[in-house]
Parts: sequence; structure tokens; C-alpha cells
Amino acid sequence: MNLHLEHKRALVTGGNSGIGAAIVRALAGAGARVAINYVTHPELAESLAREIGSPGREPLALEADVADADAVAGMFARIDAAWGGIDILVNNAGIDGPRAAGWEADLAAWRKVIDVNLFGAFHCAREALGRMVPQRHGVVLNISSVHERIAWSGYSAYTSSKAAVGMLTRTLAQEAAPHGVRVLAVGPGAIKTPINRAVWDDPAQMADLRQKIPLGRVGEPEEIAQMVTMLVSDVASYVVGCTVLVDGGMTDYPSFAHGG
Ligand code: BGC
Repeated sequence: MNLHLEHKRALVTGGNSGIGAAIVRALAGAGARVAINYVTHPELAESLAREIGSPGREPLALEADVADADAVAGMFARIDAAWGGIDILVNNAGIDGPRAAGWEADLAAWRKVIDVNLFGAFHCAREALGRMVPQRHGVVLNISSVHERIAWSGYSAYTSSKAAVGMLTRTLAQEAAPHGVRVLAVGPGAIKTPINRAVWDDPAQMADLRQKIPLGRVGEPEEIAQMVTMLVSDVASYVVGCTVLVDGGMTDYPSFAHGG
């Protein structure tokens, strides 16, 4: 098994916190040069860059709002200037938005979730594939969610965006595979990151969440990062177009463990 990513140039969006930061560490640990995209908290991106940097493999810390196509084009131009190209894109940046039933949802907030999660992934994939297809190699990995499949009251923008990311993944995969480029996704379940801090800070909500997971615990960011590292490496050279769920069984209808 060859997980080595030496000579690979990777961009991780939303790479300065949560699952993104774990992916940055894992890819760098496997030998890749990593660009850490961020939109807030530059100090986290800078300190992560210092942590993973080594002589000859200096990371990039790149500020860009993925929802903004021009900012994304500028970010890829900076990667071209520094590294002359890209081999791996991990579309990780995402937000879940405020909780509200659809009929009470604020339109601007709803749209922002779609802008970041769907347009953001598309803007970056578009730039990456425009470079990978001519060079006839590369991998685009989208971080989706179990909510690509599971409905979630109060989060219609989030679930819609992730369902769309699933189909974006499959369609771009079909387009890119004949050119030797793989597009695929990972769908995390409940992972201990800042996006769900309110839940893991509250014992009652945490107990409820555990009941939704056959494995009986939330996941760690590293458990997503390991799978991502494997899937972008040549170990997964025949994996294309699917969403690999990494969820402790959350999508396995745990409410059917009893009765039915
Ligand atoms: C969300 C988390 C949630 C998990 C499981 C993820 O996509 O970002 O907040 O805990 O799905 O419901």
C-alpha cells in the first residue's frame, strides 16, 4: 500500500480549523505540499502552516472566500505562481447556517449556505479540473455529509447543499474520469469540530446524538482525515464518483436497532 503523497501539491479549503485542519496535517504527514485556504482567523492558518512546514515543503496560507469566483481564481493563480500547478483539491469549506424551519428561514442566510457549500465547491473544482484535465492526472475530493442523504429539520439549506454536492461529485466524476482525473466525496457523520460545539457542550444533546450513531460515539477529525488521505492517494486509484460515508453507522437507520 502506497499512501505516499510526496511530489503532490494539495489545496484544502477551510483548512485552518476542524476537519480541514486535520486533513491538512494528514496530507502533510503523507508528504504532500499543502495550501491552507481560509476566510477567517488567519492566525490559525499561519500557525498550522508553521506546524507542518519543513525546508523545501513550505505550506501556503491563502485567504479567499470560496463563494467568490474571482477570489477563487486569484487563489489558484497564487498556487500556480508558487508551485506551477495542483494535484489534489479537497473541497472542505462549509457552513451549516442558522437553524430555522423553511417557512421562517432568512433568505440571505439560506442563500449563503448554498453559496459557500455548493458554489464554493464548484468554483474550486472548476479551477482545479481546468488544470488537472490537461495534465491528465489529479483528484478532487468533496467533503459532503451524511446529510447528503439524511433530512435534518431546521437545516434545509445545508441538506440541499450537501445533496447537490453528492450529484456534483458524480457528474464531475463522469466528465473527468476519461481524462485520468478522479472526483469523489467523503460524507462525515457527527465529528467533534467547532461546527457542532453547541451540541458537544450540552450533555443532553450529546446523549441524543450518540443514540443516532450505532458506534455510540462521535468521530474525531483525524478519522475523516485518514480516509481522505487514503482516497486521494493511489491506494484508491479505482475509486470514482461515490460518496464514502464515514459516520459510525449513522446512515444505517439506527432507530431500527429495536422494534420495527
Ligand atoms: C453537521 C454536524 C452534524 C452531523 C450529523 C454534519 O454534516 O455539520 O453538525 O452533527 O452532520 O448530524
